[in-house]
Amino acid sequence: MNKLVTLSLLAVLGACSKSEEEKVPDGAENYALYCAGCHDPGPGHPATMLLEEMGRPVPSLIGRKDLEFDYLHSVVRQGLIEMPPFRVTELTDAQVREIYDYIITAQPPKQEPALPPS
Ligand code: HEC
Repeated sequence: MNKLVTLSLLAVLGACSKSEEEKVPDGAENYALYCAGCHDPGPGHPATMLLEEMGRPVPSLIGRKDLEFDYLHSVVRQGLIEMPPFRVTELTDAQVREIYDYIITAQPPKQEPALPPS
């Protein structure tokens, strides 16, 4: 292979890997990746079911307007009774902040009950 072809191939490869690195997930994407599985509204989401049992007015995280950043941050870092903690290597403080901003500004979805009527 001549030198010029090799060089331009390297340039193309470099450009590809760079554009992938630039795609940093935002608050909504990190919420979907790290929190939604347990915290989305409706049945089948363990956190929503437990928080509904605990009497929170809005059992899902989306739609909660009463959450303070410091409280959410310490729950995320330390975990709770059944919630696992997240390390800085998984989510940075800035990413936790973005998730928080997303949660308190997102349009609340329709809240179907997570628990069957008793
Ligand atoms: C494996 C399931 C699971 C995941 C993943 C999870 N949580 Fe939780 N979370 C829970 C459960 C269950 C509770 C209810 C309290 C308890 O018993 O731990 C909870 C409680 C909370 C609370 C306290 C709410 C209140 O009203 O006191 C906050 C805040 C919270 N989670 C934020 C988050 C955020 C932000 C993420 C994503 C970074 C997340 N959680 C990911 C399971 C999870």
